[in-house]
Amino acid sequence: MSETKAKPVILTGAKPSGELTLGNYLGAIRNWATMMDDFECFFPIVDLHAITVPYKPADLRQRTYQCLAQYLACGLDPARSHIFLQSQITGHTELNWLLACLTPVGDLHRMTQFKEKSAKPGASVNSGLLFYPVLMAADILLYNADRVPVGEDQKQHLEMARNLAQRFNHTYSDTFKVPEPFIPKAGARVMSLQNPTRKMSKSDDNENDYLLLLDPPNRLRKKIMSAVTDSGSEVRADPEKPGITNLLNIFSAVSDRSIADLEKEFGSQGYGTFKKAVAEAVVARLEPIQEKYHELISNKDYLHQVLREGGEVAQKRAYRMLSKVYRKAGFVART
Ligand code: TRP
Repeated sequence: MSETKAKPVILTGAKPSGELTLGNYLGAIRNWATMMDDFECFFPIVDLHAITVPYKPADLRQRTYQCLAQYLACGLDPARSHIFLQSQITGHTELNWLLACLTPVGDLHRMTQFKEKSAKPGASVNSGLLFYPVLMAADILLYNADRVPVGEDQKQHLEMARNLAQRFNHTYSDTFKVPEPFIPKAGARVMSLQNPTRKMSKSDDNENDYLLLLDPPNRLRKKIMSAVTDSGSEVRADPEKPGITNLLNIFSAVSDRSIADLEKEFGSQGYGTFKKAVAEAVVARLEPIQEKYHELISNKDYLHQVLREGGEVAQKRAYRMLSKVYRKAGFVART
């Protein structure tokens, strides 16, 4: 019976990096929310991954709550998925160690993200930064994930997780599934408002480049009204018009209307009128999310309850996998 058959497992980790952008929401999180019926979803907040750079403990705690409340406000449903903290589950760092012992250190030095991060002036290059992809592989393999939704920047890390699964299976015996990337149907690619040929990113210096999920409505409006547009006055999606195209994509994603439909309505109304309409559509989409967020962030009891329940399921799975892995690797079983 298809109802009793186990659903494939999807796992994706989110770093508790504080406020999310509209790009994170439209490009990724919105899609995760649609996966919950077809897959068994594990959504760890990967807080252990957040300490490879200097940080303040109180900030980490605050960002972790914020991250959780934002995900819930965006529609991740704890009744249909497992939402938990990586640091609260025994198994991630243990598996990290076993996998580390199968990872040539040269492979880690060659990872693009490590090279970029460690080359930044003044970077603190600790071993955690180097081992980041091994811990990520442990996150994935600990739950025997079938699929991992990844953006462009994480493809190399997923490739390492696949290699490690194969290496473990080959060195010991068949243990892990080799996880496949999951490319969601249509993730909107949201570009910077000031620099529409670059991806929208919170690490941009100019805060007018990006829209935050939690920006108050008037700030959203102001940022959208000051987005760069292109020469001419026609509202039309066109590679020659990256600014207008980006706004059309955003408008389409938040309103669930097609680009063609929007072009028809706004084509000749001028940029000003068009931008106002984009701003109102974004505000209308984000206001309920913001309301939910503010309700959740002040209800720590509820947030803890979500983590407890998600963590309980995750921990059971993790223990089961960890015992198997230890046994395969030759450790004496606890009796
Ligand atoms: N490295 C990922 C990122 O920066 C976060 C992450 C950690 C992750 N563990 C994971 C993503 C497991 C997917 C699966 O976005």
